[in-house]
Amino acid sequence: MHITVIGSGYVGTTIAACFADLGHKVTAIDIDDDIVATINEGEAPIDEPGLDDLLEAHVGDRLTATTSYDAVPDSDVTFLAIGTPSNADGSIDLTTLAAAAEATGEALADKTDRHLVVVKSTITPPSIASTIEPAIDAGADGNENVEIGMNPEFLREGSAVEDFVNPDKLVFGTNSEWASNRLHDVFEPLQDDRSVPIVDTDPATAAMIKYANNAFLASKISLVNDLGNICKEFGLDAYEVMDAVGLDDRISERFLRSGVGWGGSCFPKDVAAITAAARETGYEPAVLEAAIDVNDRQPGRLLDLLTKHVDVDGARIAVLGLAFKPQTDDIRNSRAIPIIEQLQDLGAEIVAYDPVAMDPMCNRFPDIEYAASAAEALEGTHGAVVVTDWDEFATLNDEFDEMETPVVVDGRRIVDPSTEMTYEGLTW
Ligand code: UDX
Repeated sequence: MHITVIGSGYVGTTIAACFADLGHKVTAIDIDDDIVATINEGEAPIDEPGLDDLLEAHVGDRLTATTSYDAVPDSDVTFLAIGTPSNADGSIDLTTLAAAAEATGEALADKTDRHLVVVKSTITPPSIASTIEPAIDAGADGNENVEIGMNPEFLREGSAVEDFVNPDKLVFGTNSEWASNRLHDVFEPLQDDRSVPIVDTDPATAAMIKYANNAFLASKISLVNDLGNICKEFGLDAYEVMDAVGLDDRISERFLRSGVGWGGSCFPKDVAAITAAARETGYEPAVLEAAIDVNDRQPGRLLDLLTKHVDVDGARIAVLGLAFKPQTDDIRNSRAIPIIEQLQDLGAEIVAYDPVAMDPMCNRFPDIEYAASAAEALEGTHGAVVVTDWDEFATLNDEFDEMETPVVVDGRRIVDPSTEMTYEGLTW
């Protein structure tokens, strides 16, 4: 099968490389010359484990990148993998996706066989009919051979290739049996000797499944954080409590780690977008609003624990961990951002460290100090806060002796508290 993938960002490049690995011929299309050149050299434009290997294996053979839409009509199916950034009110900005949808439609205006255009981007259910379908139609001049489908992705940063290969489920949102069969054919090689559950539904329901999935996971963490805050007030260990709660099959032991909260490019954007879309209908989604509120409050609770032990005004404070989660340099919506802002407001002298995310944070906060190691960051400080659960923070020990006053507030339950120090866990 020949697949065209429009957009070579994080999702587009991953699926293009993975489709090629499944045996399909793939043309990756992007407007950015540099990204296209990078892919054609067999290198990934983003940092994702396993992606370089797949590109190196398939570029020049099954996979090619280009800026031209010429391959679209010759392909069997086109995936739209264009980012949908947030507007100020949390709603999604569909401008770039709609432009790509229209350009795809234009490329298909004269196609005489049926063609499926599948939206991979995360979009709200009503926007399929209100924005994306009309954009494709306008480009294709109403060519009825062009059909729309929706196939949301559930890829996590840092394990996107593995998540593609081992999905919990595949969601196919289509309007016809032909379109559904086409998506089944695309993913058939993935099934191998397994049977990945496939949800066959309509495009709007498929779009909603993506939001419901992420809203559920983000709310699960916020609920765990809410319960964790209560545990802390009672002097109890939330991890001991949730370890027992997670034994209930209906709850599962995953995503029960309480702490400083969720960040990244998906949870904050998606929860805000579905909340904004709900409000447009006149419905106030109370649980989702509370999930955002609890998440926004966790950094402040972390700093309340610090100020219990340290007069932060004029004090030197180490911030350990800047990425939104370990194994990535992504700082988008990292909890480290509000923590640094609030420490600045409190008058702290900040020294930050992260194994890989210091460059991006330096663009965001050029005026704070950055250390070359956790040990260097801790030296001479009056307190430290731990924001990302990097493994290397678990092995810190004597390094805490170099602090002026060894007060450590752990937002991720990663530090070993056995060394002599004043240790506070956020929810334990
Ligand atoms: C998420 C979804 O998991 C993925 O399915 C979707 O496609 C994109 O969004 P990602 O943003 O890569 O993936 O991160 P994930 O590993 O899910 O973690 C999200 C945030 O939740 C991180 O900030 C993490 O630290 C936090 N988290 C996660 C917790 O605070 N506690 C937990 O128990 C789990």
